[in-house]
Amino acid sequence: MKPQKYANKNHKFRKMVTREWAEYEKNKLMKKKWKKLLMPEVIDTLPKKLANNFASFKFDHVDTEVNLDANIFLHGGIGKGKTVDAAYYYVDKVKQIYMKRGSLIGTTFHFINFPEFFMLMQNRALEAHDLIQKYMNCDVLVLDEFGVSNTTSFVDNSLYVLINGRSVNQKPTIFTSNFTLDKISEIYDSRLVRRIENDDNCVVIEK
Ligand SMILES: Nc1ncnc2c1ncn2[C@@H]1O[C@H](COP(=O)(O)OP(=O)(O)OP(=O)(O)O)[C@@H](O)[C@H]1O
Ligand SMILES: [Mg+2]
Repeated sequence: MKPQKYANKNHKFRKMVTREWAEYEKNKLMKKKWKKLLMPEVIDTLPKKLANNFASFKFDHVDTEVNLDANIFLHGGIGKGKTVDAAYYYVDKVKQIYMKRGSLIGTTFHFINFPEFFMLMQNRALEAHDLIQKYMNCDVLVLDEFGVSNTTSFVDNSLYVLINGRSVNQKPTIFTSNFTLDKISEIYDSRLVRRIENDDNCVVIEK
């Protein structure tokens, strides 16, 4: 009886070690695939100038502890490096999704310039619904240069639907802005800022 029990334990132990070893090997392979294949593909979806210079940027200062589902609000003056940092967090969130899901199949992510998006929504109200659906459901979204002063109630409402929808679906959004969150709540409906703050799941970074 005893040896049998011991043998079983030993077998379990061997199995555990083998499983841990397989996990380690899988992780190593995934990291390699990320670096060689997927990361360059994700970088390629950034605006051209950012994509081309990505390798030359320094990221020693970034916060590496930001949770996958947390929003990030990068605030600071002109030329402080907000857009470049947003690109880092964007790539990093997609990496976290890949390491969690084991694949990027079906994962969607967009890096958009907010003033452009704003104009598109204003001028093509009929298509705004489709745009909002597309950006509401993607896994990672960057709204670069968030906040314009001449908003309309239609855009205001659409934005609320977009940002609230992402918050409810626990999809992270990265914002960069020359405006503080206080200023944003003056420009837009103050409920919008509460959705950006995402029930205290938002990291505000001052550049
Ligand atoms: N991490 C970095 N490493 C190296 N260079 C950087 C980095 N961040 C920013 N820079 C340099 O500073 C420039 C301005 O950065 P960026 O465009 O991100 O600023 P910004 O805060 O978004 O400015 P704006 O308010 O005008 O949108 C970049 O084009 C790049 O040359
Ligand atoms: Mg910028």
